[in-house]
This record gives sequence, structure tokens and C-alpha cells, in this order.
Amino acid sequence: MWQSAYVSSYWRNGPVLNNALSGLNQALWDIKGKRANMPVYQLLGGKVRFAIPCYIHANGNSPEEVAEDVQNFMGQGYKYIRIQQGGYGGTGISGTPDFKQAGFAKETDSYMSQGTYLESVPKMFETVRKACGEEIELLHDIHERVSPIDAIGMIKNLEEYHPFFIEDPFSPENMEWFEQLRANTTVPIAMGELFNNINEFKEPMTKHWFDFIRIHVSQIGGITPAMKVARLGEFYGIQTAWHGPGDVSPVGHAAQAHMDYALWNFGIQEAALFSDELREIFPGAPTMDNGYMSVNEAPGFGVDINEKLAAKYPMTTKSNWTVRKDDGTIIRP
Ligand code: CO
Repeated sequence: MWQSAYVSSYWRNGPVLNNALSGLNQALWDIKGKRANMPVYQLLGGKVRFAIPCYIHANGNSPEEVAEDVQNFMGQGYKYIRIQQGGYGGTGISGTPDFKQAGFAKETDSYMSQGTYLESVPKMFETVRKACGEEIELLHDIHERVSPIDAIGMIKNLEEYHPFFIEDPFSPENMEWFEQLRANTTVPIAMGELFNNINEFKEPMTKHWFDFIRIHVSQIGGITPAMKVARLGEFYGIQTAWHGPGDVSPVGHAAQAHMDYALWNFGIQEAALFSDELREIFPGAPTMDNGYMSVNEAPGFGVDINEKLAAKYPMTTKSNWTVRKDDGTIIRP
């Protein structure tokens, strides 16, 4: 049980062995910290910063709604905000797609018009910049949902709004497109949440293909391999931006936060907001204040697990990430 609590359930169901090894590696760092009577960040070299700057997710069905959400988060102190219109590209399309009318696929499958998406993103950036000013750092996730050449064209159009980074322009199978992307634009790029092996980072990093490392720590093998890639980034001017979606447990977020404290080439952290129930189950979970994440000073990760209480909340149904074109063809999640 103690190992499994370190393993975050990951919606893309990364290789089970990787997840188990990652959980074990994180557990060993936690235990080492407890035995040394030190927080894990001390074992990694100590604090480089007082707290961890995070980016939060703003959303909306129109550019104006996204801008409003951004302003709301700016009011809470956030300086880095990811902007998505209609989640990952399902932007303001009314009516029933043809595949649903034909009774093809599941009723809960989502629909995306890639053309509408490519048009809508620069408009969203323009609206948000106008409404929210030049100082706020804006991020966006393409989620590898359009063809590589279209992604490059869109990123070029975003240059004038100077994004902090654009994430996942291509899937891991399309890495060779980075050469063309880098020759065409200087917009910073984040990549790597789908990599399952640290060797996948080596070639693209030595070629300067991206600027932010999006490792999913509880999928890549835990703290030890993640630190190796982070150190490589230091040599190549590449910063960290660990993947921190809502389905990573508070233990997983704490593991990432301890590295964030200690890494000189830390770039940004995806924010984690925990419900009251989660905080009760995981006492000592990282906290958010004024756009910064913090962990406590207890030895190890500083997070505990109330297994009895956790048993009261069994896993419910998984969300459906299937996205389709108008004719029903599946698009990458
Ligand atoms: Co992503």
C-alpha cells in the first residue's frame, strides 16, 4: 500500500512498470529524507528559491471569457497563466457533429474542428493581451492535436504575443519536425510529458529543439532520472516545467516541488489546487499562495496519507479523452 500511494494514476495509462518504479523511487527519497531528518530538497542541494512560481489554467468558451478568467487569476497573484479556449481546441462550435448524427462512436466523445482551432488561438492571444496587458506570462498547450505543419504555422502567428511557452506542438513520433519549427520561430517550446524513457530527451536537448522539460515524474521513473534530465538541461540552457495535471496525487506534486526548490534551471511549475477532502487525506500537501507553491519543512516529502479516510473515496469512472473530427476520425487525445 505504501508504494501504491506514491504512484499517481495517469490518464494516459503510461506503462505500468514505469509507474511502479517511479513510485518506488519517490518512496525511497521520502524514506531517505525521513532517516536524515531533512526535507528532500535539502538532499538535492538545498533551496535556490523561497517558493515555487506556478502557472494556472484559464479557460473559457470565447476569447473574452478566457480574458476574464485570466484577470481573475491575476487578482489572486498568478503571474503565469495557461490559456485554452474550450479546453483543448473544442472551440465554440455549435450544432451536432456529423459523426454523432450518424450514430458513430460514443455519445460522450468530443468533437474538434482543427481549422477553427488554428484560427481561434491567435485571436484568443490577441484578446487576452489587450485586456490583461503585456506583463502577464501566457502559455498554451497544443496537445499534439493538429498536423505538424499547421502547428508550426500557428506558432509563428503567436510570436507577436510573446508566449512564455507553447506546449506539445508535435507528438513524440513526429520529433523530426522540430528542425523545421526551430528554423521558423523563436517562440519557446515545452515538450516531453509523453516520454517514457529519459533517453528520449537526450537527442532533442543536445539539438536545442525545445526550451522546457515537461517530464511526468511519476511516469519517467521518479526523482533520480528526472534530476538527470534536469542537470542535462543546465548544460543546454533548457529549463524544467514538470507535468503537474490535476490527477497527480499530492505526494507526486510534493516530489516535484522538492526538485523545484533545488534546481537552478527550474523554469515553471504547473499549479496544483487540492480540495479540502484531498488535504484531509494527504495532510501536509503542498500549498498555493499568491501564485507560489510551498511545501512544509517536515522530513522527507512532508506529506502523509490517511489510508482509512482514503478508502471512503473509491475510484469512480475515468474521464473520456476521445476526440474526433467531423467524420468521426480519432484525433490525438
Ligand atoms: Co500537456
